[in-house]
Amino acid sequence: MSASLTLPAPAKLNRMLHIVGRRDDGYHELQTLFQIIDVCDQLTLTLREDSEVSLTTPVNGVVHEDNLIVRAARLLQRSNGTSQGVNLAIEKQLPMGGGLGGGSSNAATVLLGLNKLWQLGLTREALAKLGLQLGADVPVFIHGHSAWAEGIGEKLTQVTIDTPWFVIIHPQVSVSTPLIFQDPELTRDSRPITMARALQGGVPEWRNDCEAIVRKRYPPIAEALDWLAQYAPSRLTGTGACLFAAFESEKAAQTIAELAGQRWPTWVARGLNTSPLQDALGC
Ligand code: C5P
Repeated sequence: MSASLTLPAPAKLNRMLHIVGRRDDGYHELQTLFQIIDVCDQLTLTLREDSEVSLTTPVNGVVHEDNLIVRAARLLQRSNGTSQGVNLAIEKQLPMGGGLGGGSSNAATVLLGLNKLWQLGLTREALAKLGLQLGADVPVFIHGHSAWAEGIGEKLTQVTIDTPWFVIIHPQVSVSTPLIFQDPELTRDSRPITMARALQGGVPEWRNDCEAIVRKRYPPIAEALDWLAQYAPSRLTGTGACLFAAFESEKAAQTIAELAGQRWPTWVARGLNTSPLQDALGC
């Protein structure tokens, strides 16, 4: 076993997102179609000789103790009673708080990577359960596949969906996810739909119920959604701020991305069904 692992932490898009209920603890029950995409952060996990968990490349503005990857490592250490330590290094490409699941994906990569590095032998299910304590979006990255999700995002059914090219725009505003979910005007009347129906795709099922509130609170996001909609149906991922549209070819996506790039940070990404992390871990 090598004493160091370098692993990708891919982003996700919510191809659709319906809010179907609210639990007593304030979390919302939803239905969403998660798709992993090929834009990734890179994490390097290096075994330490002591039991410390350290972060050598602090992410801008994030205090060491609060960082989700440090919390993920400590959680795994505690729950398994291991005295092994790790040095974590991160190369960020994904925006923080953009709805692309960067923080959750980083945490999932740490849990999966440390399971291997520390030779803990935990199942994916056990890791996903631990990951859920860190955030509702962590389990999908542990499972590493496109998925239909219910509950608060943790009841996952693996699905295979189309893999278009996406143009993703970051309108450079910072969206507060709790504020959006707490907004009294958040759509609450969505009726649950079946997974089979959701997988048929197309309007009106493939919408994001957070979009109306986000548009109202953040005009720059509304502007970017309207701009992108000139070329293809545009949609928010999670509670934003990032938004996306699907294209059939890389060339078509590149053409629109060049235009968008004159106004906003923009990415072209390929939709995937299997996370690149699965290949990197050899499982
Ligand atoms: O779990 P995560 O940290 O991603 O969630 C951030 C916040 O978003 C939660 O504190 C909660 O207010 C809200 N949320 C929710 N229902 C979900 C997911 C998140 O209300 N299913």
